[in-house]
Amino acid sequence: METLRLQFPALAQSGLHYLDNAATTQKPAAVLDAMAQHYANDNANVHRGAHKLSARATRAFEGARRTLATLINAPKVEQTLFTRGTTEAMNLLASSLGELVLKPNALVLVDQWAHHASIVPWQQACGRKQATLKPVPMAADGRLDFDAYQQLLAQKPQVVVLTAVSNALGCRLDLPRYIAAAKAVGAVVIIDGAQLVAHEVVDVQALGCDFFAFSGHKMYGPTGIGVLWGKSEWLEAMPPYQFGGEMITTVSFEQSQFNVLPFKFEAGTPAIAEAVGLGAAAQWLMSQDRRALAKHEQQLLNYAQDKLRALTGVTLYSAFADNIGSLAFNVDGEHHADIGVWLDQAGVAVRCGHHCCQPLMQHLGISGSCRMSLAAYNNQQDVDAFIDALTEYLEFINDDA
Ligand SMILES: Cc1ncc(COP(=O)(O)O)c(C=O)c1O
Repeated sequence: METLRLQFPALAQSGLHYLDNAATTQKPAAVLDAMAQHYANDNANVHRGAHKLSARATRAFEGARRTLATLINAPKVEQTLFTRGTTEAMNLLASSLGELVLKPNALVLVDQWAHHASIVPWQQACGRKQATLKPVPMAADGRLDFDAYQQLLAQKPQVVVLTAVSNALGCRLDLPRYIAAAKAVGAVVIIDGAQLVAHEVVDVQALGCDFFAFSGHKMYGPTGIGVLWGKSEWLEAMPPYQFGGEMITTVSFEQSQFNVLPFKFEAGTPAIAEAVGLGAAAQWLMSQDRRALAKHEQQLLNYAQDKLRALTGVTLYSAFADNIGSLAFNVDGEHHADIGVWLDQAGVAVRCGHHCCQPLMQHLGISGSCRMSLAAYNNQQDVDAFIDALTEYLEFINDDA
């Protein structure tokens, strides 16, 4: 793991314990080099140039798409769309799929863990179509309530949006079970995989969902790029999301013909260097022993969980043995932002706030929390530095009291 850590230049900064990986991960040299090499040698626009540079840029861009398709075991490369990230993927779906499947009185389910990126686009689409958005509630232990989910499924929703791993809590969903139940009632199933891809191997065919969205920057890739995978039957039937260059075959002032997949959903000049960087991130991930990384992260998370549990005055939210990546907590009577500032002074980077999950925070009866989140390069020293700084904070407030 120490040699893996050395591949991340940002982590060489002394005194930095980066535990904000659910917000965004650091990037390995392989990704930085791929992007620098693209700009230094191959920079050109893709798909339409007559020259060598454009051909090289196109090869790299479409090669990256093939790598991403391999990463998630997509059956067809053209089902793998580049987006700006999970947020844009959800907007694309709410706008385009929403146009296709939502009728007045239609029902859309979004789980209680959902990020605003899953809630708001579908809320807007439901508003436009006089459809209804309902949350899949949580059980008292913090997991989703499967019985309540089944009762909602009995109302025959058109669309079900599920969060693979909660970014605010680190809880994981039993995806095969939840997807199969929604498919059994004929719903279109969309998975927000933003917090899953960096941590576990994803196989969209085995999952059986209709769509799977994720962001590059949360899986060691660049910002501004992500992927939406979808089944061809839906992508073919859905209207385009944005209009302009690249997504057309012919245009006249009277009408336009739209391009084939994936270009139909990629209007304008794409994020070329970012796609190249994301392809490099996917290659990098696939070249690792994924099981060993997952085991390492799990051991570290359990270690952090045990240490947090041992601290008096700390409330842990839904900490399970099978959490992925993140742990959320508060110090009783303290504002989460104060804890974040204290930890930062000790070089420990965590995220404090509502984590773009205000409905979840309302459900928990809190305004926000602190979240420590791991990546494969974190080590025990990072967790120890975090626990030591938090212990000092607890001593400080107790002395003060
Ligand atoms: C679960 C989840 N969904 C969606 C998003 C939105 O991702 P992005 O901001 O990369 O579009 C995030 C980012 O925090 C997330 O954690």
